[in-house]
Amino acid sequence: MSVDNIYNIDNSVINNQEVKRGVNNINNREINNAEIKSNVNNILNQEIKSNVNNLTNWEMENSSNNLINHGIKNNSDNINNQGMKSKIDRIFDSFAKESIFQDKSHLQTKYHPDEIIHRDEQLEQVASILAPALRGERTSNLFVYGQTGSGKTICIKYMKEQLLNKAKKLEIPLKIEYLNCKLKKVADTEYRILAELIKKMGGEVPATGLPTDQVYNKFIDLIESEKQTFILILDEIDQAVKKISSDFLYNLTRMNSELDKTTLSIVGISNDLKFLDLIDPRVRSSLSEEEIIFPPYNALQLQDILKKRADVSFKQGVLGEGVIAKCAAYAAREHGDARRALDLLRVAGEIAERAGESGIDVKHIDIANEKIDKDKILDIISSAPKQFQIVLLAALELMNNKRRAQNQKNQKIFTGDIYNLYQELCRKSRNEILTQRRVGDLIAEFDMLGLINARVISKGRYGRTREIKLLIPEQIIPRAREIITDSLNF
Ligand SMILES: Nc1ncnc2c1ncn2[C@@H]1O[C@H](COP(=O)(O)OP(=O)(O)O)[C@@H](O)[C@H]1O
Ligand SMILES: [Mg+2]
Repeated sequence: MSVDNIYNIDNSVINNQEVKRGVNNINNREINNAEIKSNVNNILNQEIKSNVNNLTNWEMENSSNNLINHGIKNNSDNINNQGMKSKIDRIFDSFAKESIFQDKSHLQTKYHPDEIIHRDEQLEQVASILAPALRGERTSNLFVYGQTGSGKTICIKYMKEQLLNKAKKLEIPLKIEYLNCKLKKVADTEYRILAELIKKMGGEVPATGLPTDQVYNKFIDLIESEKQTFILILDEIDQAVKKISSDFLYNLTRMNSELDKTTLSIVGISNDLKFLDLIDPRVRSSLSEEEIIFPPYNALQLQDILKKRADVSFKQGVLGEGVIAKCAAYAAREHGDARRALDLLRVAGEIAERAGESGIDVKHIDIANEKIDKDKILDIISSAPKQFQIVLLAALELMNNKRRAQNQKNQKIFTGDIYNLYQELCRKSRNEILTQRRVGDLIAEFDMLGLINARVISKGRYGRTREIKLLIPEQIIPRAREIITDSLNF
């Protein structure tokens, strides 16, 4: 292809601002209506749920603790009810008052903004790599990576719409499918990923039962059903490979040789920067014919993103001095994560509103930051595999026993002790017992996730061990244990 041609295609894709804006407006209007409706429902449901949860979880706990502490345990039922009533009243009152939000949906993760800022360079790169599809040519496979919240998903989805609109206008047969591999129902087997794709394309596969090569054939038949260029976007591709293995990607990247009428290109997106180093070199070179890195946003860019959303999300005059700057600064510290920045602002708003206050100020950001951290830890724990949970439970129990026995906070425990208790817990819950080495790997993973801090110490001729400090905040330990014991059916 000559340089002139590339240039022309690029120009028509990127510079056709008028058309882009027009289509955008239509799309956004459609999306907004549906989104707003479901968001209003979500907000109502979430708010009510989270308030009830808050009440039942911490407020109840606090009230009953207070009572017990003051030695009036006997009357606890009565008093508790009265306390509860006034608390419920307070919540109802704060809701009866006007909300500080104008339209909270703009701060939710699902929301797609009309405009993507500070990503021009990346959008242009993606556009020029995928533009050949508008001439019915196969595009290079593209690998996009960057930390979470760096705008990868939003940019690629935006480009998908732009390309499809353009192809429609030019009457070029182009098909683009997007699949997030992190979805629970999708990610755990090759079969399920393919079945989900086939379903998306209008085909049918039983939930289990067919041999994998037959499912591949079905997929191939579907893309070959008409002459077209096919682009498959696999978001959070690292998640799929973690659970399945990269054979699956190998099979996909080799599929072109079996296609007659169609060409298949893959756009892989990963939050894990080291992902490519970990997969089979043959898959790596094929998957990353082109690579685009999404760098983290800096604090000023995050402020711009936040301001745009805040303008439509909150009523006027609600945001206190320095609120946006503080959200941006916190999120910049967390690898420039735009999602974290938006979450901080939303959660701070919810906290302020629940406290019956008429505006958000910087102190709410600190509370929100802590809450998000705690929720994140509990999320990790509840979605972790069983073995991970058992090892963690062993560590939590040991720490608890030590604290109780020695009445000190920062107690340290050792890997050997964790392993002993872990074996006992496995026997009790009838789970397979992993080797000490595998358990050591899991403990290293806790360290990476920030749940613990492990330090290798030498025990002279007895070899080496790891000394472990727990980093999970104390207030959430009871909840963490509850999540694990529920999941293990103890
Ligand atoms: N440049 C941007 N302009 C506006 N909003 C953005 C921008 N980048 C990210 N966001 C918002 O931040 C959140 C995270 O972005 P996302 O694309 O999902 O990140 P990633 O896929 O890299 O984890 C989304 O809610 C998105 O709407
Ligand atoms: Mg993403």
